[in-house]
Amino acid sequence: FREILLHEYREAFGGAPLRERVGFALPGKAVPKGPLGAYSHKSASDTEARIEGLIRKMTLEEKLGQMTQFSYGESPISLEAMTMTEKAGVSTKAEAALELYKSLTREGRLGSVLNCFGAAKTNELQRIAVEESRLGIPLLFGYDVIHGYRTIFPIPLGQAATWNPALVEKGARAAAVEASSEGVNWNFSPMVDIARDPRWGRVAEGAGEDPYLGSAMGVAQVRGYQTEDLGAPGTVAACAKHYVAYGAAVAGRDYNTVDISERTLREVYLPPFEASVKGGVATLMSAFNDLNGIPASGNRHTITDILRSEWGFQGFVVSDWESIAQLVPHGFAADRDQAGREAVLAGVDMDMVDGIYMQSLPRLVKNGAVPMEVIDEAVRRILRIKLRKGLFERPYTDPHVAEKVILCCEHRKTALDLARESLVLLRNEKNLLPLGDDLRSIALIGPLADDRINILGSWTAQGRGEDTATVLEALKARVKPGCKVAYTRGCPIQGEAPEDEITKAVQVAQASDVIILVLGEAGDMCGEAASRTSIALPGDQEKLLRAVVATGKPVALVLLSGRPLTFPADLVPAVLEAWFPGTRGAQAVVEALFADINPGGKLPISFPRNVGQIPIFYNSKSTGRPAKETDKFTSKYLDAPNSPMYPFGHGLSYTTFAYSGLKLGAERIRAGSDMEVRVTVTNTGPRAGDEVVQLYIQDLVASATRPVLELKGFHRIRLTPGESHEVTFVLAADSMASYDRSMKKGIEPGKFRVQVGGSSADGLEALFEVE
Ligand code: NOJ
Repeated sequence: FREILLHEYREAFGGAPLRERVGFALPGKAVPKGPLGAYSHKSASDTEARIEGLIRKMTLEEKLGQMTQFSYGESPISLEAMTMTEKAGVSTKAEAALELYKSLTREGRLGSVLNCFGAAKTNELQRIAVEESRLGIPLLFGYDVIHGYRTIFPIPLGQAATWNPALVEKGARAAAVEASSEGVNWNFSPMVDIARDPRWGRVAEGAGEDPYLGSAMGVAQVRGYQTEDLGAPGTVAACAKHYVAYGAAVAGRDYNTVDISERTLREVYLPPFEASVKGGVATLMSAFNDLNGIPASGNRHTITDILRSEWGFQGFVVSDWESIAQLVPHGFAADRDQAGREAVLAGVDMDMVDGIYMQSLPRLVKNGAVPMEVIDEAVRRILRIKLRKGLFERPYTDPHVAEKVILCCEHRKTALDLARESLVLLRNEKNLLPLGDDLRSIALIGPLADDRINILGSWTAQGRGEDTATVLEALKARVKPGCKVAYTRGCPIQGEAPEDEITKAVQVAQASDVIILVLGEAGDMCGEAASRTSIALPGDQEKLLRAVVATGKPVALVLLSGRPLTFPADLVPAVLEAWFPGTRGAQAVVEALFADINPGGKLPISFPRNVGQIPIFYNSKSTGRPAKETDKFTSKYLDAPNSPMYPFGHGLSYTTFAYSGLKLGAERIRAGSDMEVRVTVTNTGPRAGDEVVQLYIQDLVASATRPVLELKGFHRIRLTPGESHEVTFVLAADSMASYDRSMKKGIEPGKFRVQVGGSSADGLEALFEVE
C-alpha cells in the first residue's frame, strides 16, 4: 500500500531518479551540472536580478533578519522573550519564543528557524513570512537529519563502512523525502569532518579517517539530499559541516583546540569539504574549534580565502550553535559586538541562535566598523539559496505527503540494505559463523540485545523505538521451530552489574549450544559532547564477556558502537561490528549471523589495540626510522605493535577472495595523464559475497614527505562462488598531485607504488613512474 502511495507521490512530484551506481567517480569529474545543481544561465541571471531587486528594497534590519536563525521553542533573547510573554499573555518559555518568532517574521527580521518540523508548524510560520512580512521572503527550516528522519539508517560511520556511495545516496534521498514532507527544507548534514581519534564522540557522525572515502560519502549525501536540482520537490538543501578541522580536537575532547599544519589541513581535513562544494552543496557550517589560533567561526582564511576565492563556493555559511558568541570565551573577541564583527568579516553569513547579528550589527554598520557591502553580500548568498531552493514559488509543505512517505516500504527497505551492507565481520576464527539451522538452543546475552532505542544511535531526528525491532525479536523471528532462544541482559550498558546478573548469564550460557553476545555503547555515548578517555566496553560488559567466554561455549560477539572500541578480541572467536544500525538493523544483524546475507562491509576507521595508540590512521608517514623489530631505536612502542587491532579497509566474509593479474596501463606516464589499473578478483570460497576492492598509492619520493599509503579508488563488487571479475580503476592524474615545499599543488616526477587489495594492510603491488 505504501509503495503504491509512494509511486503516486513520485508521479505527482516527479522525484528525481535514484542512481544505481557503485563505486565513486573522483570529485570534480562526476558533477555534470553547475556548482549548485541544475541551474541555467538564464535562471541564474533572473535570480541575480531578483536578489538585487530585494536588496535595494531591504532595510538594514531586514537584511540582518535574513542573517538570523533561531531555534523553535527556545528563546536565546530572554529579555525580548519576556516582553513578548507579557504582551501575548503566554505562559511557557517555548510559547514566548514562538510569539517572538512570529512577530520577528512578520517584521522581516528572521531568516531561518531550526528544530521546527511538521507541515502545520512550518506552514504557520511560513505563511507569516510570505503573506504578512513586507517583502514576503520565505523562511528556511533547518534540522539535523543526520542518518534518517523517521526511518533511521545506520549512523554515518556505519554507512561509510558500506563503501557504497550509491546506496548512501539512496538513504540520503529517502531522508530528504521524509524530512521535506514535514516542512524541513535545509538539513545540517553531511558531517564531513575527518576523524582520526575515536575518543571523539563525533566520529560516529562522519565517514571515518580517510579524506577520499570521506569525500565520496559527503558527495553521495549531498546528491541524495539535493538531487541535481536543488529546487526539485522532495529535496532539502544540504550543509557540509563543521568547517573546518573540528575532528582534530586535541586529545579527542569535543570542542577542544585544533592545532594542525596547513599541509595537514589541506591534505586531510579540507578535501571532503572541497568535494562537497564541487558536488553542489548549498551551505556550510562553521565549526566551534579554534584552528591554529583563529577560531573557525571567525576565520577569514578558511571561510573567504579558501572556500570562496579558491573553490568558488556560491552558497552561504551558517555558524554552529552559539559559535559566534563563543569567540568571546575563546579569547578572540572582547565582547559580543566584536565577536559579531569578526564572524561577519570572516564570511559567516547566518548567525545560528546567538542573536548577535541582529543585536550588534546595526550599531557596527552605522559606525562604519562593518561595511554595508559585507552585509549585502551575506544577504545575497542567503537569498540565492532560498531562490534556488524554489521557496519563493513553493514556500509551503503539502500536509498530505508525510503519511505517504514516512516509514514507507521503500525507505524501510533502504534502511535494511544499508544496515546489511554496513556490517563488518572483524573476526571469524574456525568459521564459527555463520550459525547453522540445526542449533537446538541459543543464548542471547547483553545489555543491547533487547534494546530498541540505543540501536538507533545518536542524532535520531524523529526516529522511534516503536518502529524498531530488537535483536531478540529479530532472532526469535528467524530461528527454526526446534531452536530455543534464552535471553538475559547480563549487565547494564554502563555502571556495575549486580553480581547475580552475571551469574545468571553464565548459567544461561552453560545451558545453550552457542552464545550471541550483544555488547557496546549507549546511543548517546557517541555524537556531540560524548568524548571518552577509554574506548573499552563500558561498565561491566568486559567482565560479562570474560565470564561468558569462560564457560567454554562458542561465543559470537555483536558490537553496537559509534566508534572503534578496544576489547579482548583474542578471547572471542567471532566478532561482528554492527555500529548503530538503525530502524532495520536488528534484522540485518540476525541475517548476517545465519548467512542469510554475507557481511561485506569494511572498516572506514582503524580499530586500535589500546587507547595509547591514538591517534592511529593508515595514511601515516614513514618517519626517518620506520619500525624494525630488530632495532630498538626505531619508531615504535615498547609495549604494543604499531599496527592497529583491525586496520582501515579490513572486513571478512563467509567466502574468500583471491586477487590476481594486477596490470597498469603503462610503466611510465607523463605528468598530467591518468593511469589505468586493473586487477582480477575471484570468489574462491563457498558462498556469494561482496568484496570492496581498494586501490592505494604511495608517492615514494617527493619534495615533501608523503603518506605510506593513500586510498585513491574503490569498488564494491558482488561475486558468486567461482566467479571472477576484472575491476578497472582510472587513477586520475590529479590524485597523484601533492603539495610541495612552498605548498603549491602539483604532480612531481618520480616513482609511485600501487597497492590493490581487500584492506589497507595487504594487496598486490606494482610500480610506475611519472615523467
Ligand atoms: C550543534 C552541532 O555541533 C551541529 O552539528 C548541529 O547541526 C547544530 N548544533 C544544530 O543542531
